[in-house]
Amino acid sequence: MESPFRPDILKGKVALLTGGGSGIGYEISRQLGKHGAFIAIMGRRKNVLDSAVSSLRSFGISAIGLEGDVRKRDDAVRVLESTIKHLGRLDILVNAAAGNFLVPAEDLSPNGFRTVMDIDSVGTFTMCHEALKYLKKGGPGKGPSSGGLIINISATLHYTATWYQIHVSAAKAAVDSITRSLALEWGTDYDIRVNGIAPGPIEDTAGVSKLVSEVRSNAEEQEPLFKFGEKWDIAMAALYLASDAGKYINGTTMVVDGGLWLSKPRHLPKEAVKQLSRAVERRSRDAPVGVPKSKL
Ligand code: COA
Repeated sequence: MESPFRPDILKGKVALLTGGGSGIGYEISRQLGKHGAFIAIMGRRKNVLDSAVSSLRSFGISAIGLEGDVRKRDDAVRVLESTIKHLGRLDILVNAAAGNFLVPAEDLSPNGFRTVMDIDSVGTFTMCHEALKYLKKGGPGKGPSSGGLIINISATLHYTATWYQIHVSAAKAAVDSITRSLALEWGTDYDIRVNGIAPGPIEDTAGVSKLVSEVRSNAEEQEPLFKFGEKWDIAMAALYLASDAGKYINGTTMVVDGGLWLSKPRHLPKEAVKQLSRAVERRSRDAPVGVPKSKL
């Protein structure tokens, strides 16, 4: 799909994306690049990075790949330094690296829980923390009153509770909290906007292939708003937040899921409600609940 945004809205900006070599992170990289940004992607697997970089370049995007694991502070420091060395500045940090697997809570070891917290929550904080000196107003390539921005990729799992994902729900709840706290502190002190995006189920991603059961019996009945989104949908939200269109948005996590998290099974058919509601009104007018018959 074509982007509704002008192709130069991020001209001259530099973006670093963790997990930018595949899935949602890759599509955000591609769209930020197609709208003028220079792209650095960080990931653990060299082969994934290499093929993502050559694919980005085939779209005419200036891109580099930097190997690193967000769980290692030294990697974060080194990748940020390389970004500045190669691209001269940092305007946009997207934290898209994440870990996930389905497991009943009783079968999840504390180390399994910690692993996902380390990637999603601690990793996000580490990247933000080490990027601060480059993103803040007055940082490399920045004026005295214009800072950069951060986008943290989150989820909606923790808004209620999600089966077999206690670790990820906890980790994403922490990510949302980090988004709000940094928006407050760094928005005030350094002119950095910090926002999040909470995607619903997105086609062709590791998240969906790992987590959405192949047998989705009665899915529409259980979750009437269930439908797959595209990576493009998430990338457009990122573009909006990263562009000047989002200049007054700080500390929010934008849900991009077609309303899915609000889904509830329909407990009555619509026709039944149409017929019932009038009848119920009439009945309660004729015999109000709680008013003794003698008073009518
Ligand atoms: N069920 C239960 N426990 C699991 C598990 C599963 N499916 N997969 C991993 N674990 C546990 C391991 O048993 C281990 O705990 P233990 O030491 O107590 O046995 C712990 O998690 C760490 O596993 P390990 O395989 O060593 O971690 P890793 O660093 O190699 O991999 C993961 C991290 C597990 C998150 C892996 O799935 C990953 O790399 N994911 C990245 C990609 C991804 O998930 N993308 C989807 C984004 S939505």
